[in-house]
Amino acid sequence: MDDRTRWDARYREGAYSQRPWPSDFLQQNIRVVANNNQQSPGRALDLACGAGRNSIFLAEQGFTTQGIDISAAAIARGAAYATKVGTKVGWVCQGLLAQGGVEVAQAAPVAEKTLLLSQDPIRNFGQYQLIILFRFVAPGLLTTLMDHLLPGGHLMVEEHLRHDLGEEIVGPRSPAFRVAPGALLAEVAASTQPYEVIEDFAGAITEPSGGKAAITRLWVQRLSE
Ligand SMILES: C[S@@+](CC[C@H](N)C(=O)[O-])C[C@H]1O[C@@H](n2cnc3c(N)ncnc32)[C@H](O)[C@@H]1O
Repeated sequence: MDDRTRWDARYREGAYSQRPWPSDFLQQNIRVVANNNQQSPGRALDLACGAGRNSIFLAEQGFTTQGIDISAAAIARGAAYATKVGTKVGWVCQGLLAQGGVEVAQAAPVAEKTLLLSQDPIRNFGQYQLIILFRFVAPGLLTTLMDHLLPGGHLMVEEHLRHDLGEEIVGPRSPAFRVAPGALLAEVAASTQPYEVIEDFAGAITEPSGGKAAITRLWVQRLSE
């Protein structure tokens, strides 16, 4: 089954309908990111946006926001909610991985997974003040994303972490849907763009639902040349 079919089915069955709140990481830091720009907050891009919990939040904060996801069912849910709350998001139904995507990635070691990424899945999208990628593993994508940041722009990433913290940790069981400690920063460091690390975290957090998750977060700012 391909990614689109699988995720459409999951969203139609109600996946994430009990998680409408935006990410804590994003909410806690949004003022810094938005105020960094002297005038309006500017353009924001939410990759693998799902049903748009973070896209809608960014639009509400004044960002001109685009959300991309492979699942039309997720986007339909996000679009309906955005309309309900009177917010505008530009929705794009598009995959971020080359053909095969996660299905192949699950069986492949990390070095091979890198080959699955499309060369630049957002090559015509231009540059952004803020790009977020939350809870979708796309090996190699962060290096490319650095070219899509405006000077002074921010990249915020949050992924499930590979861990040895025991069975009580919530989230995906397959390591293909988790990243190793340090992996996010290694991808950014492969970029030719100058950057500053604002936050680099790996550890356990308590989810708003009460579950304990192993998470890694990276927040970097692209510097001027
Ligand atoms: C765990 S959800 C995270 C959604 C959202 N980022 C959030 O934090 O609520 C993963 C998302 O990745 C999307 N996805 C799966 N495969 C994809 C692909 N190949 N390209 C783009 N999006 C994909 C799914 O449809 C799903 O919405």
